[in-house]
Amino acid sequence: MRTPQYAMSIFKGRREKLANHLKDSALILAANPEVIRNGDVHYPFRQNSNMFYLTGFEEPNSALIFRPGKNPETVLFVMSKDPAQETWTGFRYGVEGAKRYFEVDEVYSIDSVQDELPKLLSDVDQIYYSLFSNTNFDTILMDIINDLTWSRSRSNRGNLPIIDPCAMLGEMRLRKSNVEVEWHRRACEISAEAHIEVMKTIRPGINERALHGVFLRSIMERGCAREGYGAIVAGGENATTLHYEFNDQVCKDGDLLLLDAGAEYNYFSGDITRVFPVNGRFSDTQKRIYQKMLNVQKDLVSLVKPGTSREALQTETVSRLTELMIDEKLLKGRKDDLIEKKEYERFYMHRVSHWLGMEVHDAGTTLVNGEPRVIEPGFVLTIEPGLYISKDAPGVPDELRGIGIRIEDDVLVTESGHEVLSSKCPKEIADIEAVMRH
Ligand code: GLY
Ligand code: MN
Ligand code: MN
Repeated sequence: MRTPQYAMSIFKGRREKLANHLKDSALILAANPEVIRNGDVHYPFRQNSNMFYLTGFEEPNSALIFRPGKNPETVLFVMSKDPAQETWTGFRYGVEGAKRYFEVDEVYSIDSVQDELPKLLSDVDQIYYSLFSNTNFDTILMDIINDLTWSRSRSNRGNLPIIDPCAMLGEMRLRKSNVEVEWHRRACEISAEAHIEVMKTIRPGINERALHGVFLRSIMERGCAREGYGAIVAGGENATTLHYEFNDQVCKDGDLLLLDAGAEYNYFSGDITRVFPVNGRFSDTQKRIYQKMLNVQKDLVSLVKPGTSREALQTETVSRLTELMIDEKLLKGRKDDLIEKKEYERFYMHRVSHWLGMEVHDAGTTLVNGEPRVIEPGFVLTIEPGLYISKDAPGVPDELRGIGIRIEDDVLVTESGHEVLSSKCPKEIADIEAVMRH
């Protein structure tokens, strides 16, 4: 027997907040599809973020129907109890269990969705539903809507409009409540502690994969179900590949290691990148370039406050990194010309920031009415300038070849400025070297 580990008032509160936006509408959220390969090989299941956000329900083959102002208002469809099946795939709440613990008005078996869902949609004027996140459920729903169209056309109401709820939910998810900030802070803290464990473990000759294992063990020991995304554990020149995910090479004496890894805690993800020397000591060249990158990163973090935008942070990043590239003889010419021609993209080619939350690249648009979104208290974003000098890059100083540096922190916007949620993770050269001596 299991019981939910979350207070249901959290999910109920979120639904209440959303209710104003759903007049005469039904919001339908389907669970993520299960990943099953070769017929019966099950891969770890993670609930759809929006489904979890509004229900706390973590089983596959389930769906939420939310119809504010109607009766019943909140309905869950769940898998029925099935002892024979549960012997194979584990505990399910079933209809009775879901009714008892999940504080919704009605629970039906998912087997009856074809019969019950049409009734729940017969008196709404539009539905909010994300197509393509569960294609099986898409098919079921399209059939139901097709049938409903007949009865609606008799009363001249036409087709039932389908609107994607992602933008609406993204607006909510961008603004973190107190409990969400608490969970997110913990996700970032655990991520930081796990980075420290990797710093303490690394030595020449160890495989990147073993370090990934140390990270995973550290976060799971601290109560995380999983990492928030596939970690990047990149020794030496592997760090110049942005999405290096093989994580299977031996770490070499004299190289740097780039570790981009985050824990997922209560469905909130950390996202931290640190760069540190495999042998515990930065060389003079590594020290120089790393310190310059750290200065840029810290200055960018200091700019995070209500009223700025990710666009403004991007412009500042490009300006500062272009200066750094000129200083390090990676680029030659006038700064303004180099920026105009996007020459910096040879060594820095990604955005400096993204929203962070239940997904590592979280919901919420970057533009509002075509303008850059103004950052508000309660938002969480990353700050992650990077510099990637491939070993074959033409015309670059030899000492910089094969160096990849990204320094990434997770930043909560507060009324008065910001709080760095990942601040427990060392990034000053002296602090990293001190941790690595132990
Ligand atoms: N780890 C993915 C990112 O930094 O955006
Ligand atoms: Mn990131
Ligand atoms: Mn990252």
